[in-house]
Amino acid sequence: MIKTALSHPNKALVIYWGNEDDTLRIPTRSSLSITLQGINHPLDYTITLRTIRSAERDRVFINGTEDKGEIFTHFVRHLDIMRAYTGFQEKVEVITRKTFPIGSGLAGSAASASAMAEAFAGLVGKTADRKLVSVMARRGSGSASRSVFGGSVVWQKGNSDDSSYAKQLFDENHWDIRNVIAVVSSDPKKVSSVDGMTLSKKTCPVSLYSVFTSASSEHIEQMRSAMAARDIVKLGVGYEKENDLFRQVCLKTTPQLDYWSKATHDIFCKVNSLRNDGVPAYAGTDAGPNVHILTLPSHVERVTRVVSEVEGVMEIIHCRIGEGSHLLEQHLA
Ligand code: PMV
Repeated sequence: MIKTALSHPNKALVIYWGNEDDTLRIPTRSSLSITLQGINHPLDYTITLRTIRSAERDRVFINGTEDKGEIFTHFVRHLDIMRAYTGFQEKVEVITRKTFPIGSGLAGSAASASAMAEAFAGLVGKTADRKLVSVMARRGSGSASRSVFGGSVVWQKGNSDDSSYAKQLFDENHWDIRNVIAVVSSDPKKVSSVDGMTLSKKTCPVSLYSVFTSASSEHIEQMRSAMAARDIVKLGVGYEKENDLFRQVCLKTTPQLDYWSKATHDIFCKVNSLRNDGVPAYAGTDAGPNVHILTLPSHVERVTRVVSEVEGVMEIIHCRIGEGSHLLEQHLA
């Protein structure tokens, strides 16, 4: 049996940053994202799963080369969890292809774990069960639970393995907004997201961390209603407010998590001045220095031109809202 799935990364507008249960990845707050489809660069993660009868172990091939190290261990752990959920016994060969630009700062864990869950759901004939696909994706990487859907997506935190999964808010055709990503660094993060969020939960003052966790429902509701009304100002103001709060949490973490570089600060200033000129552009980050600018299609050219001039900007990736993970007919060899 063979199944292949394609998935995309997503950008959190209300961020996931910390777990109540690290093993099950039950988050401390609900989050909201848009699924990203690259326009000037493909942002695709494809995984083929092929069953290998009577084999004793899984095999993993990255760009044609067999991996027996860290990636292999990570994928096998995810596969074992999905086998336990579904009762599927067979070992598989995993073949992957990633088309993200090198150094894009888009780690790809959301796209890869959701493609893995989708392809696995294909093997067991369960792709129609979107909740199961989202739960299985979550166990590979928290943010992957959201890439199972296209458009805008909320991951409800829930309080158990069964109640923590994502749901689509609006599909990819509801409203054409764009994310212009200013890539300023291709260096690996000094502190990974997983380690950073664990540190924040442990060391950020409770008074701030509890404001951060409880603000998520209000921020999600504000963005949901902005999206329903296709109101870019309301969406952007909510996005920047959430981003400020996330930055405060990072800066109050010990040791301090300052993911920004000088270029990040400079881009935020440029976006501010664009806004003073009447351009609806709103800036935020993930756990890294790259800036994700939300805007409307008619302003992408100007935003790109202005932001490209900032010293330290290496590349601009222009995205629209994309579709969720799904099976493909064509398999990777
Ligand atoms: O999904 P993980 O476990 O790789 O965590 C990454 C989470 C962030 O990208 C930092 C935020 C988010 O909500 O996507």
